[in-house]
Amino acid sequence: MKKVTVDKLEEGMKLARDVFTENGKLLLPEGFIIKPSFIQKLREHNIDSVYVEDEKAESYVKEEVIYHETFVAIQDLMLSAKAGEVVDPFVAKEIVNDIVGQIIEEEDVFLRIVGFRDVDNYTYFHSVDVSIFAAIIGKLLELDRKQIEDLALAALLHDFGKMKIPHEILNKPAKLTDEEFEEMKKHTIYGYQIVKNMDGISEQVAEVALLHHERLDGSGYPLKLKGDKIPLFAKIVAVADVYDALTADRVYKKKIVPTKAADYLTKYSGIHFDKDIVQKFLKMVVKYPVGCFVVLNTGEIAIVYEENPFNKTRPIVKVVARKEGPPVLIPYFVDLSQDYKREIIDVINY
Ligand SMILES: [Fe+2]
Repeated sequence: MKKVTVDKLEEGMKLARDVFTENGKLLLPEGFIIKPSFIQKLREHNIDSVYVEDEKAESYVKEEVIYHETFVAIQDLMLSAKAGEVVDPFVAKEIVNDIVGQIIEEEDVFLRIVGFRDVDNYTYFHSVDVSIFAAIIGKLLELDRKQIEDLALAALLHDFGKMKIPHEILNKPAKLTDEEFEEMKKHTIYGYQIVKNMDGISEQVAEVALLHHERLDGSGYPLKLKGDKIPLFAKIVAVADVYDALTADRVYKKKIVPTKAADYLTKYSGIHFDKDIVQKFLKMVVKYPVGCFVVLNTGEIAIVYEENPFNKTRPIVKVVARKEGPPVLIPYFVDLSQDYKREIIDVINY
C-alpha cells in the first residue's frame, strides 16, 4: 500500500483504504478501481491524497476482470496438471459461474473481448473463449442455468489433455505429419482421464474432453461416433472450438475473418456440426449491423443496408465507393447471400 496525491492518481489503481469526505461520509470504498470520474470527484471534495495498492489493477471493467481471472485460473490448472500435481477445479468452477451469470444477463457481453490472444498462450485463451462461446450457445438453446454452468466448465476444460502432448508437436510451426497428428489426437483421451478424476466433475462434463472432435458423419475422433450418439455438450463445444480456432492466429497459420469462419461452419453444418447450433451461434456472433461500413474482396466499399434473416453473415449491402478505380456515381445493391464471389473482408466502423 502507498499514499499518492490525487495529481499522481492513475486510472486502474486500486484503492487500499476507504475514502471519506470532509464531513465523514464515505466517498469511495476500499477495493474500488480508479476511473477518471473518481479523480474528478476527489478534486471536487478537495481531497489531496489517497491510499492505493502497490500493484495496478488489470482493468476495472467487470467482464474484463472475469475474463482475466478465468485465464489465470485455467493456466494455473493446466500447468499444475502438467507438473503432475493434483488439481482442484474449485476456482475454475466459481469463475466460470461468473461468466455464465454475465452471459445470462446479456449474451454478447464478452464478444468485444474474445479473440485477443497471443500465440504463446493460445491454449489458455482458446479455453476461455470456447467456454464463453459455449455458454452463449447454451443460453441460445435455452438450457437451464445449472446446465449452462456445466457446459461452460466442460468447454473450459475441453483441451486439458494438450498438457500431455509434447511441446514440439503442440507448437509446431508447420503442418503435422500423420504420425504427429495421431499423437495430437490423443489429447482427447488424456484430457478425459485427467478431467474425470477431478473432484466434483460429472461424467457429462468430463466426456466433452473426450468427444469434442467427434463429427456428425463419423469422420471425427477418437471414437468415430455419429449423429445423436454424440452428446449435446460435445456438439456445442465442437462448434465453439472450430470457430475460435479458425479466427485465431496460430504458430502455423494466420487467422481468417469471422465471415470466412462462418462460411466454413455453414458449409459443414449437418455434416460435421449440428445445424441448429451453427445457425443460432452464427446469428449471435457474426453479424453486421445495418449502417456499418464494410470492405469487400472486390475493393468495393459498402454500407450494410438490410440483414438477411436466413444468413446474417451475408447481408444486403449498398456499394458506395471503391478503394481504387473509378468512383461509384450511382450506388448499387448487392445481396451477399446470392453472390458468393463477394466476401466481406473488413469492417470499417460499427
Ligand atoms: Fe481439442
